[in-house]
Amino acid sequence: MSLIVTGTIVKQLQVATNYYLLEITAPQLAQLAQPGQFVHVQCSGNSVPLLRRPISINSVNRRSGTVTILYRVVGEGTRLLADKRVGDLLNVIGPLGKGFSVVSSSSKVILVAGGIGIAPLYFLLQELLAKGVKPTVLIGARTADDLLLISAIKALGVTIEIATEDGSAGVQGRVTELLPKYLPDTDMIYTCGPTPMMQAVALIAQQKDIATEVSLEERMGCGVGACLACSCKIKVGTGNEYKRVCADGPVFNAGEVCWGE
Ligand SMILES: Cc1cc2nc3c(=O)[nH]c(=O)nc-3n(C[C@H](O)[C@H](O)[C@H](O)COP(=O)(O)OP(=O)(O)OC[C@H]3O[C@@H](n4cnc5c(N)ncnc54)[C@H](O)[C@@H]3O)c2cc1C
Ligand code: FES
Repeated sequence: MSLIVTGTIVKQLQVATNYYLLEITAPQLAQLAQPGQFVHVQCSGNSVPLLRRPISINSVNRRSGTVTILYRVVGEGTRLLADKRVGDLLNVIGPLGKGFSVVSSSSKVILVAGGIGIAPLYFLLQELLAKGVKPTVLIGARTADDLLLISAIKALGVTIEIATEDGSAGVQGRVTELLPKYLPDTDMIYTCGPTPMMQAVALIAQQKDIATEVSLEERMGCGVGACLACSCKIKVGTGNEYKRVCADGPVFNAGEVCWGE
């Protein structure tokens, strides 16, 4: 079930250059939301931009009835979102899409995030910890300035490893280079980030036969499965089918995805 909610903004915090955490009151949405689901956000009070923008649910507080998103300003919609202030109203539709499967406490789990891809994985991390699963978190970014939520994740007491392409924080290199040493002890991987990164994670995991879920990103229109703007090719049986990232995803099993097609 998804809702159309007009919530009050209770937090709008710039956490890094071009990155913001925004929290709204949305008690029912907070109750319903699952990790990996997203909200479709009306970024302005008028018809420009016409389309809503999809943003992952970064966390929920079910007691206070709030939902938080973490977003990067990349264009008109997110720029308008960053202009909003505490006390303003924000209209969202959600929770939308099919999220991650939350495994049981006996599982050995790795989360692999690239840049803003940490947004849905942070919510997943919280839900896994609540179930008694203590994942290892591997985070990659271009530079130290693009690393998000590091203190918040450390505060949860999980193992975290960082890689940056320019070496300004953690190990210099790609986050996928951190993965191999953990694989012998892993039975589930969740990943979100740039498509080439997720594809590389999927390949490494496939070679070791480790179940992996990826959160895909496509430009969206309706966000609710009606317009087919977000179609992507998915393997079904011996053939392929077009699936809607907004309604059939955004989370898919890595082995089902037809990368780059
Ligand atoms: C399921 C889902 C969850 C998402 N979660 C988050 C999140 O938690 N935080 C966050 O910051 N962003 C997230 N995004 C991406 C976010 O939707 C876009 O950055 C946003 O729509 C851009 O809107 P804009 O008007 O600011 O920029 P636009 O002017 O629309 O676009 C600016 C630039 O970004 C590119 N772009 C825009 N949307 C996408 C997209 N969906 N995929 C790839 N490239 C795109 C455009 O090609 C263009 O180059 C998510 C996208 C999806 C599909
Ligand atoms: S955005 Fe319309 S079907 Fe997915």
